[in-house]
Amino acid sequence: MMAMFRDEKDSGQVTMGAVHRLATRADANGLYEVRRRSILELAPPIMSVAEAHAWAARLTRAGMERKLRELEVWVAECDGITAGWGAIRGDYLEGLYTAPEFAGRGVGAGLLEMFERLMRERGIRAVRAEASSNAREFYLRRGYRTSAPQTPNGAWPIARELASCSSNEARGGSSG
Ligand SMILES: CC(C)(COP(=O)(O)OP(=O)(O)OC[C@H]1O[C@@H](n2cnc3c(N)ncnc32)[C@H](O)[C@@H]1OP(=O)(O)O)[C@@H](O)C(=O)NCCC(=O)NCCS
Repeated sequence: MMAMFRDEKDSGQVTMGAVHRLATRADANGLYEVRRRSILELAPPIMSVAEAHAWAARLTRAGMERKLRELEVWVAECDGITAGWGAIRGDYLEGLYTAPEFAGRGVGAGLLEMFERLMRERGIRAVRAEASSNAREFYLRRGYRTSAPQTPNGAWPIARELASCSSNEARGGSSG
């Protein structure tokens, strides 16, 4: 049952060894650093080093604090250490970052699955996001499809239907 994974919105959730909890304002610096390091260390070489630096620089510490106020931000912890974080707003995945020392251990996939589960429980039929070029394959391998042409800043609009756990391939064009 779902209850095995989720009790209350504010409670921790255990998935694949990582505990998921809502972020607080006190997380601002830690999450800012995880984001910066994940981009600089994990995005290249698929993304150029220059592009990664430009992307990392797009968020300031004040911007991170704003995200914590405006978005629903979740932290993945392994043994109390921040292994990654992600943010959603409604049906939109606003960010997903894994600390480089935890990369390739299912932290990102675990957060993504948790967000999809939360959205499904909230009656949301499809999750939308913009995938950076380096992470595009990560999403496509997890059931996402490209929903619009690449944006001017190089991101790929993607979406995944959430209507059913065992749905057939998503059909039909993108909306809007
Ligand atoms: C993308 C990112 C979040 C993945 O996190 P992660 O914790 O290392 O990923 P996971 O360990 O959950 O990987 C799950 C699967 O995707 C694969 N994968 C991970 N990163 C990938 C990548 N960049 N490209 C293709 N596949 C990738 C893994 O091999 C694994 O494959 P499997 O399902 O066959 O086992 C992480 O690489 C990251 O933080 N990158 C920098 C920031 C970024 O690009 N964020 C996304 C913004 S849209």
